Amino acid sequence: MDYRKVQMLAEKFEQTFGSREGLMCARAPGRVNLIGEHTDYNGGFVMPMGVDREVRFLFRPVEAGPVRVWAENTGEWDEFSLGEIEHNPRQAWANYVRGVAVMLQEEGYPPAPVEGIICGDVPIGAGLSSSAALEVACAKAYCSASGQEPDSRRLALLCQRAENEFVGVNCGIMDQFIAVHARSKHALLLDCRSLEHEQLPLDTSRVRVVVCNTMVHHELGSSAYNERRATCERAARLIGEHEEGVKQLRDVTPEILQRHGELLGETAYRRCRHVVSENLRTLRAADALKEADYEEFGHLMYDSHDSLRADYEVSCDELDLMVALARKREGCYGARMVGGGFGGCTVNLVEAQRAGAFCEAVARAYEARTGIKPEVYECVASEGAGVERC
Ligand code: GLA
Repeated sequence: MDYRKVQMLAEKFEQTFGSREGLMCARAPGRVNLIGEHTDYNGGFVMPMGVDREVRFLFRPVEAGPVRVWAENTGEWDEFSLGEIEHNPRQAWANYVRGVAVMLQEEGYPPAPVEGIICGDVPIGAGLSSSAALEVACAKAYCSASGQEPDSRRLALLCQRAENEFVGVNCGIMDQFIAVHARSKHALLLDCRSLEHEQLPLDTSRVRVVVCNTMVHHELGSSAYNERRATCERAARLIGEHEEGVKQLRDVTPEILQRHGELLGETAYRRCRHVVSENLRTLRAADALKEADYEEFGHLMYDSHDSLRADYEVSCDELDLMVALARKREGCYGARMVGGGFGGCTVNLVEAQRAGAFCEAVARAYEARTGIKPEVYECVASEGAGVERC
């Protein structure tokens, strides 16, 4: 954690709440997904890593009374009683703070009241999962205050429930799981059905992960997300009527999909083809990473992008341009859009020695073509959520 930033926040806490006594800091990282997009809610495979951008919650348990939280990024207060938690119709961010408290209560880990300041540098709406980082940081703070904490899987699932049921976004498990389980210098291969996972080391002496933020965000995002998810679930049900053992698209092989193409219709078929092929790509990418075969890993990233663009149709012109510009640069092994889509970031795997030059050149070229100044930076694979005394 950046010591200087935490100290600045601690001063702010003191000004706001009177003293620093008993001050704690819960933190959780944003994430970038190397490969495995739109597979998590189909029971498939993903390979995210935690990044060195995080949400921090400086907090102190209080004896009784409401939860009182100041959001430094928006300059807003939220206050609510743990006995009666309602949806906040005016402040979107507050519903993550509230929703996590509701789920902890429902699952038998009643949170204790806290007062504090929330602040973060994970870009919002850019596909780096600022919302999961916020949920997990809040869960850590409540649990630290109450002295009762579920195991790490359960904690991630409970934060996902908060987002699904309280915030109302039907996301999969990837983001919350990595915010809890990320390890520095590693990416995580996660089976989103069994939640079995494996930490895969990243050799930063040879490759770096670069994120390019297009700075655009197209409105379509959340409605298209829910619609894609519904299409996948419907397709899996349909195929399951004819194929034993098919419960989710995770269970569908390319051969099974081929057999039932007509049943699905053209669009649903293409959506399924993305998911089925992306699961295979993710497993192959895990092997490639273990063998340090970055060429192969990079090809799989490009293929993933093409499939998201053409079959799943969740890319946009700016993301396609960012990938095309990266692809032209020497030392770039692979590039693809990341997260839900329709804007936000691309993730790039770049030769370590050329990473600095890559960042400059891609940023310059993107700005020249679009007039938009992008944010382009190397990401360091960082540790998952934690709590410490300030
Ligand atoms: C969003 C969701 C994740 C996942 C990705 C797409 O980030 O929160 O659960 O579905 O989109 O891979």
